[in-house]
Amino acid sequence: MADLPILRIAPSILAADFAKLGEEIRAVEAAGADWIHIDVMDGHFVPNLTIGPAVVKALRPHTSLPFDVHLMIAPADPLIEAFADAGADIISVHPESGPHLHRTLQTIRGLGKRAGVVLNPATPIDEIDHVMDMIDLILVMTVNPGFGGQKFLASQLDKIRALRHSIDRHIAGGGASIDLGVDGGVDTDTITLAAAAGADAFVAGTATFRGGPGAYASNISALRSAAEAGS
Ligand code: DX5
Ligand code: ZN
Repeated sequence: MADLPILRIAPSILAADFAKLGEEIRAVEAAGADWIHIDVMDGHFVPNLTIGPAVVKALRPHTSLPFDVHLMIAPADPLIEAFADAGADIISVHPESGPHLHRTLQTIRGLGKRAGVVLNPATPIDEIDHVMDMIDLILVMTVNPGFGGQKFLASQLDKIRALRHSIDRHIAGGGASIDLGVDGGVDTDTITLAAAAGADAFVAGTATFRGGPGAYASNISALRSAAEAGS
Protein backbone atom coordinates (compact mmCIF):
# COMPACT_ATOMS: atom_id res chain seq x y z
CA MET A 1 0.00 0.00 0.00
CA ALA A 2 1.27 3.49 -0.83
CA ASP A 3 2.36 5.66 2.08
CA LEU A 4 -0.41 7.90 3.34
CA PRO A 5 0.36 11.59 2.78
CA ILE A 6 1.19 13.67 5.85
CA LEU A 7 -1.79 15.95 6.38
CA ARG A 8 -1.33 19.24 8.19
CA ILE A 9 -3.97 21.30 9.94
CA ALA A 10 -3.08 24.98 10.19
CA PRO A 11 -5.45 27.05 12.34
CA SER A 12 -5.71 30.63 11.07
CA ILE A 13 -5.51 32.94 14.05
CA LEU A 14 -7.64 35.45 12.15
CA ALA A 15 -10.56 33.66 13.82
CA ALA A 16 -8.96 33.61 17.29
CA ASP A 17 -9.67 36.04 20.13
CA PHE A 18 -7.27 38.90 19.30
CA ALA A 19 -7.30 40.03 22.96
CA LYS A 20 -5.50 36.81 23.93
CA LEU A 21 -3.58 35.56 20.94
CA GLY A 22 -0.76 33.96 22.96
CA GLU A 23 -3.23 31.88 24.94
CA GLU A 24 -5.14 30.96 21.78
CA ILE A 25 -1.98 29.71 20.07
CA ARG A 26 -1.02 27.61 23.09
CA ALA A 27 -4.53 26.18 23.14
CA VAL A 28 -4.52 25.11 19.48
CA GLU A 29 -1.05 23.61 19.85
CA ALA A 30 -2.31 21.55 22.80
CA ALA A 31 -5.37 20.66 20.70
CA GLY A 32 -3.25 19.08 17.93
CA ALA A 33 -2.53 21.83 15.38
CA ASP A 34 0.46 21.30 13.06
CA TRP A 35 1.18 24.87 11.92
CA ILE A 36 -0.03 28.30 13.02
CA HIS A 37 -1.34 30.27 10.03
CA ILE A 38 -0.90 34.02 10.41
CA ASP A 39 -2.80 36.27 7.99
CA VAL A 40 -1.03 39.55 7.34
CA MET A 41 -3.23 42.14 5.61
CA ASP A 42 -2.42 45.73 4.68
CA GLY A 43 -5.77 47.37 3.89
CA HIS A 44 -4.52 47.89 0.34
CA PHE A 45 -3.72 44.54 -1.32
CA VAL A 46 -6.79 43.25 0.52
CA PRO A 47 -9.55 45.29 2.15
CA ASN A 48 -8.64 44.44 5.76
CA LEU A 49 -5.85 45.25 8.20
CA THR A 50 -4.42 42.73 10.65
CA ILE A 51 -1.05 41.72 12.02
CA GLY A 52 2.50 43.09 11.64
CA PRO A 53 5.94 41.73 12.51
CA ALA A 54 5.82 43.06 16.08
CA VAL A 55 2.84 40.84 16.85
CA VAL A 56 4.46 37.82 15.19
CA LYS A 57 7.55 38.40 17.35
CA ALA A 58 5.45 38.68 20.50
CA LEU A 59 3.71 35.40 19.67
CA ARG A 60 6.89 33.46 18.85
CA PRO A 61 7.67 32.36 22.44
CA HIS A 62 4.16 30.93 22.86
CA THR A 63 4.64 27.87 20.64
CA SER A 64 7.24 25.72 18.95
CA LEU A 65 4.92 25.04 15.99
CA PRO A 66 5.94 26.45 12.61
CA PHE A 67 4.57 29.92 11.85
CA ASP A 68 3.01 29.88 8.38
CA VAL A 69 2.88 33.58 7.51
CA HIS A 70 0.52 34.48 4.68
CA LEU A 71 1.41 37.92 3.35
CA MET A 72 -1.50 39.79 1.78
CA ILE A 73 0.47 43.00 1.40
CA ALA A 74 1.85 44.93 -1.58
CA PRO A 75 4.65 45.44 -2.01
CA ALA A 76 5.71 42.41 0.05
CA ASP A 77 9.48 42.59 -0.51
CA PRO A 78 10.30 45.44 1.91
CA LEU A 79 8.75 43.57 4.86
CA ILE A 80 9.95 40.01 4.26
CA GLU A 81 13.08 40.36 6.37
CA ALA A 82 11.08 41.80 9.27
CA PHE A 83 8.74 38.80 9.25
CA ALA A 84 11.70 36.41 8.98
CA ASP A 85 13.38 38.09 11.97
CA ALA A 86 10.11 38.00 13.90
CA GLY A 87 10.08 34.20 13.71
CA ALA A 88 8.20 33.17 10.57
CA ASP A 89 9.07 29.68 9.31
CA ILE A 90 7.10 29.70 6.06
CA ILE A 91 6.57 33.00 4.26
CA SER A 92 3.99 32.97 1.48
CA VAL A 93 3.34 35.68 -1.07
CA HIS A 94 0.83 36.32 -3.83
CA PRO A 95 2.35 36.71 -7.33
CA GLU A 96 0.31 39.92 -7.72
CA SER A 97 2.01 41.58 -4.75
CA GLY A 98 5.17 42.48 -6.64
CA PRO A 99 6.73 42.57 -10.10
CA HIS A 100 9.41 39.89 -9.56
CA LEU A 101 8.12 36.69 -7.99
CA HIS A 102 11.40 34.86 -8.62
CA ARG A 103 13.36 37.54 -6.76
CA THR A 104 10.86 37.53 -3.88
CA LEU A 105 11.19 33.75 -3.50
CA GLN A 106 14.99 34.10 -3.61
CA THR A 107 14.76 36.65 -0.81
CA ILE A 108 12.66 34.33 1.37
CA ARG A 109 14.92 31.32 0.77
CA GLY A 110 17.99 33.52 1.25
CA LEU A 111 16.77 34.33 4.75
CA GLY A 112 16.66 30.61 5.50
CA LYS A 113 12.85 30.40 5.41
CA ARG A 114 10.49 28.17 3.48
CA ALA A 115 8.89 29.95 0.54
CA GLY A 116 5.21 29.77 -0.36
CA VAL A 117 3.15 31.08 -3.26
CA VAL A 118 -0.56 31.80 -2.83
CA LEU A 119 -2.91 31.63 -5.80
CA ASN A 120 -6.07 33.74 -5.74
CA PRO A 121 -9.23 32.20 -7.20
CA ALA A 122 -8.65 33.90 -10.58
CA THR A 123 -4.88 33.37 -10.67
CA PRO A 124 -3.80 30.69 -13.16
CA ILE A 125 -1.39 27.98 -12.11
CA ASP A 126 1.06 28.74 -14.90
CA GLU A 127 2.24 31.74 -12.83
CA ILE A 128 4.45 29.27 -10.99
CA ASP A 129 5.46 26.85 -13.76
CA HIS A 130 9.00 28.20 -13.92
CA VAL A 131 9.64 28.70 -10.20
CA MET A 132 8.63 25.26 -8.93
CA ASP A 133 12.20 24.64 -7.75
CA MET A 134 11.97 27.70 -5.50
CA ILE A 135 8.71 26.82 -3.75
CA ASP A 136 8.09 24.83 -0.56
CA LEU A 137 4.34 25.48 -0.32
CA ILE A 138 1.61 26.28 -2.83
CA LEU A 139 -1.52 27.64 -1.20
CA VAL A 140 -4.75 27.68 -3.18
CA MET A 141 -7.19 30.35 -2.06
CA THR A 142 -10.68 28.90 -1.94
CA VAL A 143 -12.13 32.33 -1.06
CA ASN A 144 -11.10 35.83 -2.07
CA PRO A 145 -8.45 36.88 0.45
CA GLY A 146 -9.28 39.45 3.11
CA PHE A 147 -11.74 37.89 5.48
CA GLY A 148 -12.46 34.71 7.40
CA GLY A 149 -15.82 33.00 7.42
CA GLN A 150 -16.47 33.01 3.67
CA LYS A 151 -17.91 30.21 1.58
CA PHE A 152 -15.53 27.67 0.00
CA LEU A 153 -15.24 28.10 -3.78
CA ALA A 154 -15.63 24.63 -5.28
CA SER A 155 -14.43 26.09 -8.60
CA GLN A 156 -10.90 25.80 -7.16
CA LEU A 157 -10.94 22.00 -6.85
CA ASP A 158 -9.83 21.62 -10.49
CA LYS A 159 -6.90 23.90 -9.74
CA ILE A 160 -5.92 21.75 -6.74
CA ARG A 161 -6.07 18.63 -8.93
CA ALA A 162 -3.92 20.27 -11.62
CA LEU A 163 -1.37 21.41 -9.03
CA ARG A 164 -1.25 17.91 -7.53
CA HIS A 165 -0.22 16.63 -10.98
CA SER A 166 2.39 19.38 -11.43
CA ILE A 167 3.89 18.68 -8.01
CA ASP A 168 3.96 14.93 -8.62
CA ARG A 169 5.62 15.53 -12.01
CA HIS A 170 8.11 17.89 -10.38
CA ILE A 171 9.02 15.28 -7.76
CA ALA A 172 9.21 12.48 -10.35
CA GLY A 173 11.66 14.67 -12.27
CA GLY A 174 13.93 14.88 -9.22
CA GLY A 175 12.48 18.03 -7.64
CA ALA A 176 12.01 18.50 -3.90
CA SER A 177 8.65 17.93 -2.29
CA ILE A 178 6.16 20.83 -2.22
CA ASP A 179 3.24 21.09 0.21
CA LEU A 180 -0.15 21.81 -1.38
CA GLY A 181 -2.39 23.84 0.89
CA VAL A 182 -5.90 25.18 0.73
CA ASP A 183 -7.08 28.36 2.45
CA GLY A 184 -10.60 29.65 2.92
CA GLY A 185 -13.94 28.13 3.84
CA VAL A 186 -12.34 24.89 5.00
CA ASP A 187 -14.72 22.88 7.18
CA THR A 188 -15.40 19.19 7.78
CA ASP A 189 -17.21 18.90 4.42
CA THR A 190 -14.98 20.97 2.16
CA ILE A 191 -11.75 19.58 3.65
CA THR A 192 -12.68 16.12 2.34
CA LEU A 193 -13.15 17.54 -1.16
CA ALA A 194 -9.83 19.41 -1.00
CA ALA A 195 -7.97 16.34 0.27
CA ALA A 196 -9.53 14.17 -2.45
CA ALA A 197 -8.33 16.71 -5.02
CA GLY A 198 -4.79 16.34 -3.68
CA ALA A 199 -4.28 18.98 -0.98
CA ASP A 200 -2.22 18.01 2.06
CA ALA A 201 -2.24 21.19 4.19
CA PHE A 202 -5.43 22.81 5.37
CA VAL A 203 -5.84 26.31 6.76
CA ALA A 204 -8.91 26.56 8.95
CA GLY A 205 -9.92 29.64 10.91
CA THR A 206 -13.61 29.53 11.69
CA ALA A 207 -13.73 25.72 11.76
CA THR A 208 -10.91 25.56 14.33
CA PHE A 209 -11.89 28.37 16.67
CA ARG A 210 -15.66 27.98 16.73
CA GLY A 211 -16.98 27.03 20.16
CA GLY A 212 -14.00 28.40 22.12
CA PRO A 213 -11.01 26.63 23.68
CA GLY A 214 -13.00 23.67 25.01
CA ALA A 215 -13.90 22.74 21.43
CA TYR A 216 -10.49 23.14 19.74
CA ALA A 217 -9.32 19.53 20.16
CA SER A 218 -12.55 18.07 18.81
CA ASN A 219 -12.68 20.65 16.01
CA ILE A 220 -9.13 19.82 14.89
CA SER A 221 -9.59 16.09 15.17
CA ALA A 222 -12.84 16.26 13.18
CA LEU A 223 -11.04 18.23 10.47
CA ARG A 224 -8.17 15.72 10.43
CA SER A 225 -10.50 12.72 10.16
CA ALA A 226 -12.48 14.38 7.37
CA ALA A 227 -9.24 15.15 5.50
CA GLU A 228 -8.02 11.57 5.93
CA ALA A 229 -11.34 10.33 4.58
CA GLY A 230 -10.71 12.27 1.36
CA SER A 231 -7.01 11.58 0.88
C1 DX5 B 1 -8.44 34.87 4.17
C2 DX5 B 1 -7.35 34.20 4.95
C3 DX5 B 1 -7.72 32.91 5.55
C4 DX5 B 1 -8.83 32.97 6.56
C5 DX5 B 1 -9.55 31.68 6.52
O1 DX5 B 1 -7.89 35.94 3.50
O2 DX5 B 1 -6.23 33.96 4.11
O3 DX5 B 1 -6.55 32.30 6.13
O4 DX5 B 1 -8.41 33.20 7.87
O5 DX5 B 1 -10.65 31.76 7.34
P1 DX5 B 1 -11.81 30.67 7.32
O6 DX5 B 1 -11.17 29.36 7.66
O7 DX5 B 1 -12.76 31.15 8.37
O8 DX5 B 1 -12.38 30.69 5.95
ZN1 ZN C 1 -4.55 32.84 4.98
